[in-house]
Amino acid sequence: MSMAPTLEVRNLRTHFFTREGVLPAVDDVSLRLERGRILGLVGESGSGKTVTGFSILGLLDPPGRVVGGQILFQGADLLTLDKRALRQLQGNRIAMIFQDPMMTLNPVLRIEAQMVDAVLAHSKLSQKISKTQARELARETLGMMGIASPEERLQAYPHQLSGGMRQRVAIAIAMLHKPDLIIADEPTTALDVTIQAQILSEMQNLARLHGTALIWITHDLSVVASLADEIAVMYSGRIVEQGAVSEVLDRPLHPYTQGLIGSLPSNNRRGQRLRQIPGMTPNLLQLPASCAFAARCERVSERCQQRPEISEPVGGHLLRCFHPALPTQPEPQFG
Ligand SMILES: Nc1ncnc2c1ncn2[C@@H]1O[C@H](COP(=O)(O)OP(=O)(O)OP(=O)(O)O)[C@@H](O)[C@H]1O
Ligand code: SF4
Ligand SMILES: [Mg+2]
Repeated sequence: MSMAPTLEVRNLRTHFFTREGVLPAVDDVSLRLERGRILGLVGESGSGKTVTGFSILGLLDPPGRVVGGQILFQGADLLTLDKRALRQLQGNRIAMIFQDPMMTLNPVLRIEAQMVDAVLAHSKLSQKISKTQARELARETLGMMGIASPEERLQAYPHQLSGGMRQRVAIAIAMLHKPDLIIADEPTTALDVTIQAQILSEMQNLARLHGTALIWITHDLSVVASLADEIAVMYSGRIVEQGAVSEVLDRPLHPYTQGLIGSLPSNNRRGQRLRQIPGMTPNLLQLPASCAFAARCERVSERCQQRPEISEPVGGHLLRCFHPALPTQPEPQFG
């Protein structure tokens, strides 16, 4: 087994070459995910979460293009793999759960065929498995997703299921592949909280038992708090704060993260969504030369007219800010 981390993203930059100009949707994003670890990726709408996921998976379409950085999957640079090798990895070792389940599901195949395929694709890599066993596993996994009468659901076509049901089937299919990496883009947002909790707990089991690393994109801090080990907060295409979930949610140091989380005590966090911060995110086509958060920041100073780089860890947090809140320590000096 490879000793390299499951995923290492180094200084990823993804641009969209639009008619209005170059849009830096992802700029200098670095992430590291060891086996079995779960990273929550949060940030306001348009901050670059989905584009980060698509970049990692090689799913960008023109005018979008990765223009810099490295994406190492178990040590191999995905950006240098050809399309065929990449597609193979995507089938077997890396899975994406999309916001729209129909990006995973095939509309003309019964659920059963799609799920059995997923099991058989995975079992090629490990032990042989019969079709009957595959079917049994499919039914069991639907059950784990809180789907009642899984036997009937297996016979259905995607259009015969509700949106929430389709989403759960798509998650079940990703799980059946037992990939080494799953990137999930807000897949449980529309689901009932009890079902959501059940799915998150199954995801944690998958991470723990199989060593699957997960990137979970979400707006919901309670999901990050209950699911993830680490959190990365994005703003205008850049990560502004990153660290252990317990650290960052309890002691956010970046003014943006503080704004998102509010000042509620940590045990009040459950069910809380990211708070609205006054003001607007800057237009990515016309990013200022200053810190991108400057227009909305309470701590802004003259110095913030320059763009802050990501820091060395400060009390376990990586920060992109000249004036992070450090109540008990002197302000760190950045380049
Ligand atoms: N095909 C495209 N062409 C041009 N710009 C794009 C395209 N896709 C995304 N973008 C831009 O890239 C930026 C990042 O978008 P992205 O979808 O990653 O945001 P997000 O964080 O996932 O937001 P949300 O929470 O709404 O899903 C946005 O400014 C968006 O307008
Ligand atoms: S660098 Fe300055 S403007 Fe940007 S978040 Fe930090 S304090 Fe605010
Ligand atoms: Mg998105």
